[in-house]
Amino acid sequence: MRMLIAPSMLACDFRCIGDEARRALSAGADWLHLDVMDGSFVDNISFGPDICRSVRDSVPTETFLDAHLMIDAPDHYFPRFVAAGVNLISIHAEREGAVDLHATLRAIRENSVQCGLAVNPATPIEKIFPYLSEVDLVLVMSVVPGFGGQSFMADTLKKVSVLREKRAERGLRFLIQMDGGIGPAQADACREAGADCLVAGSSTFRASDMAAAIRAMKEER
Ligand code: DX5
Ligand code: ZN
Repeated sequence: MRMLIAPSMLACDFRCIGDEARRALSAGADWLHLDVMDGSFVDNISFGPDICRSVRDSVPTETFLDAHLMIDAPDHYFPRFVAAGVNLISIHAEREGAVDLHATLRAIRENSVQCGLAVNPATPIEKIFPYLSEVDLVLVMSVVPGFGGQSFMADTLKKVSVLREKRAERGLRFLIQMDGGIGPAQADACREAGADCLVAGSSTFRASDMAAAIRAMKEER
């Protein structure tokens, strides 16, 4: 399958987020990634459902919006992101215990929105095995979430290979996404490990040629 590239709006110029979203699509973005941070689950505050709605209203209806909720209470807030018109909502495995992840994933899907489960670099991948048949996507974090522009942690690639094996073994269909510190220099390793979708913030929005950067990540070299 062709690699999907999801530029992270976190790295765009917020003064003109709608123009930036369209710029990414013109440059060949497959999805747009929306990093939602609440200042508690991670040490940063980004934006919420109203900004996601502005992005939704700025792009063609068929544009796939992928919301990554780095928040303590995804069970409480996800309906607002559904209402904002996103297509996929990822929640974090680290909230297991505090949040009923099975119920939240199911509720997201019942709203005709795809669901994803994200894992931080420090979280063993085995933690999410019980959820694999319930998700459309697994998001393997390749940096500690909270900020764009960090360095890629190559040891997270192992998790991607393990997931690819598990998926084949169990005949499942979820996509494997990697997020954090990814640019053309990391894309081949991610592809070889088994990633289907790469989130890229700094390496797309801050590139001198965004289209070339996206193309370089899609193509096998
Ligand atoms: C990190 C976010 C990432 C980040 C990616 O908390 O989840 O999506 O914005 O940005 P880069 O590509 O700059 O690491
Ligand atoms: Zn993200």
